[in-house]
Amino acid sequence: MKVGVIGAGTMGSGIAQVASTAGCEVVLFDTNRAAIEKSGTKLTKIMARLVEKGKYDASKAKGIQDRISYITSLADFKGCDLVIEAIIENPEIKKKVFSELESHVSKECIIASNTSSLSIASLAAACNNPERFIGIHFFNPAPLMKLVEIIPAIQTSDDVCRKAKQTIDDWGKLTVLAKDTPGFIVNRVARPFYSEAIRIYEEGIADFATIDWAMTEIAGFRMGPFTLMDFIGNDVNYTVTETVFKAFFYDPRYKPSFTQKRLAEAGFDGRKAGKGYYDYSEGTTKPEPNKDPMLGSMIANRIVTRLMNEAADALHFNVATKEDIDLAMTKGVNYPKGLLAWADETGIDEIVARMDTLFEEYREAQYRCSPLLRKMARNGERFFNESATTVS
Ligand SMILES: NC(=O)c1ccc[n+]([C@@H]2O[C@H](COP(=O)([O-])OP(=O)(O)OC[C@H]3O[C@@H](n4cnc5c(N)ncnc54)[C@H](O)[C@@H]3O)[C@@H](O)[C@H]2O)c1
Repeated sequence: MKVGVIGAGTMGSGIAQVASTAGCEVVLFDTNRAAIEKSGTKLTKIMARLVEKGKYDASKAKGIQDRISYITSLADFKGCDLVIEAIIENPEIKKKVFSELESHVSKECIIASNTSSLSIASLAAACNNPERFIGIHFFNPAPLMKLVEIIPAIQTSDDVCRKAKQTIDDWGKLTVLAKDTPGFIVNRVARPFYSEAIRIYEEGIADFATIDWAMTEIAGFRMGPFTLMDFIGNDVNYTVTETVFKAFFYDPRYKPSFTQKRLAEAGFDGRKAGKGYYDYSEGTTKPEPNKDPMLGSMIANRIVTRLMNEAADALHFNVATKEDIDLAMTKGVNYPKGLLAWADETGIDEIVARMDTLFEEYREAQYRCSPLLRKMARNGERFFNESATTVS
């Protein structure tokens, strides 16, 4: 199979590595020569490290490198079966690239975008043949993250969707099917992890260190929300939040926070800037959390409940199947349990009661209980059978 990748930045380089590792012939295109050189140098280093660690033998590493050719003209995509675009998140530039690309590839070639925030339908519309267009959303770093979201647009043919999913499965990834709605699965369902944590801080209930402690030690997440936002970068995380909010027609449930906006405006972007929610300069010690168990449980319950409510709402609106929603959150962002299976374990009644208590208090849209949870509680239903193996 011949695979084209457009954009040799963080994601494009990773996707090219994944495809080549799976045995595909890969052509990697970028308009910026420096990006191409950097991508090649980085791959050489990655392969050398894998050989050094004994994970790959030298010939396997050489094969992966040899199968990737670096190109500077879209015409070299001739003969590709699949082209995945991973360039700058700008709809106009992406659309221009797609319409030019179509003149160089066959009618059968599948064209995909790795966009995190743009609608797949809007990008597909730039093609003469939009049925061949689909969203294939990898996570960063693409070679290490198992999950890939497959997002057919309303124009995508069933055959293209099936082939795209099969191809990425064959590359050893775990695919989930998502509806073409803002944030797809992961970037939608994960929003309360950040927003509710910031809200708790803004109300003065607890500081960053205490909230991070509650979410790691009590709720079992690998990283607390503030540590994670500093890791992702407050500029990047704020932009995703604002984009999802706008794409939901300004639904107040996805409202960004002033706290994070100010950090991004100040350039306090997190680890990479040396300062974010925490100070990363030399000689500074991390603040100590308040390990009050009652406070910790209250924080963990509030954030996890909102996450479960968001997962239930995603299911309510048919964004994905219940299995895919739980897989996406455990494999895409390493959540300790699938949120729907976790809701079963906690008790649907209990989740409804917690959401209603929050709503009673605040009367704000983000605290409204999902109609699906309310209906399930009324009927005594669960997401998964007690006997079924839950996704965790
Ligand atoms: N970084 C992430 O965590 C992440 C995760 C999932 C999806 N995405 C999505 O993947 C895409 C790429 O993100 P990234 O982080 O790799 O960006 P990046 O800035 O690292 O790389 C983008 C590359 O595209 C190149 N480019 C720009 N315009 C081009 C054009 N017209 N033709 C060819 N190349 C062009 C740039 O030179 C650059 O090398 C975006 O759509 C983003 O939303 C990013």
